[in-house]
Amino acid sequence: MPILTCPVCGHDLASSGNSFVCAQGHLFDLSKEGYLNLLLSSQHRSRHPGDAPESARARRSFLSGGYYAPLRIFVADRLRGKIVLDACCGEGYYTSAAAERGFETYGFDIAKDMVRMAAKADKRSFYFVAGLHTVPVRTASVDTLTHLFAPFADESFARILRPGGTLMTVIPGERHLWELKAALYDAPYPNRETPPACSLTFVRSERLRYTFELTDTQSILDLYRMTPYAYKTARTGEAKLSALGSLRVTADFLVLTYQR
Ligand SMILES: C[S@@+](CC[C@H](N)C(=O)[O-])C[C@H]1O[C@@H](n2cnc3c(N)ncnc32)[C@H](O)[C@@H]1O
Ligand SMILES: [Zn+2]
Repeated sequence: MPILTCPVCGHDLASSGNSFVCAQGHLFDLSKEGYLNLLLSSQHRSRHPGDAPESARARRSFLSGGYYAPLRIFVADRLRGKIVLDACCGEGYYTSAAAERGFETYGFDIAKDMVRMAAKADKRSFYFVAGLHTVPVRTASVDTLTHLFAPFADESFARILRPGGTLMTVIPGERHLWELKAALYDAPYPNRETPPACSLTFVRSERLRYTFELTDTQSILDLYRMTPYAYKTARTGEAKLSALGSLRVTADFLVLTYQR
């Protein structure tokens, strides 16, 4: 795994049997699913960092319905170079698309359960547990960095990308999930499209907008539970949505491209 570095000392990691080891002898064992845990206990505060299990479960169930497949393809179509890294990869839904296209693909997330799931399902990518601000990857080693619906880390991204490399980050557009919000709130307001504070050179912004039909209550609830609205209005929201048997929803994504 030529891009990985030791989270303790920063030297390169080399594969050695079922482990990875650096020149100073720090050793990391591969899990049985084939991922590497490179998150040191000093690098996270919570015992289970990352998304709440409930929202992670809902996301997995929703994504498996294929409603965001157009975005998966949209992003994969824009990958360039040889080495792709998916930051905050979750269960690897978008990561695996890069591997299917033949890129040397890596994905990391701070949530070990997510990474385990990703590694179990996708044998073509290499997954590791790590935090955004301490990504154990060589400086200037990545051709394309993808980053969807997750916290932003400008310094890390700028460090990891090779000169000329590309960052693609996806944020919700103003109409994203409009009908879901209209079912929840009397006066929903459009999302604010705030681009991240990014020191890289802005290249373009592309919008992907379409509608999809949820044809059962469970899928509507899954979608709801993976959104931030579920934290704010859990009880009343679930009650309102449970009364719905189907819902046509707008997907509105902004795909922002930057270059180092
Ligand atoms: C909304 S999910 C998106 C996951 C995936 N990109 C997708 O779109 O399916 C946000 C992800 O960011 C991860 N995350 C949050 N903070 C992080 C951090 N500091 N370092 C790495 N991952 C982080 C969470 O564990 C979660 O999997
Ligand atoms: Zn080391």
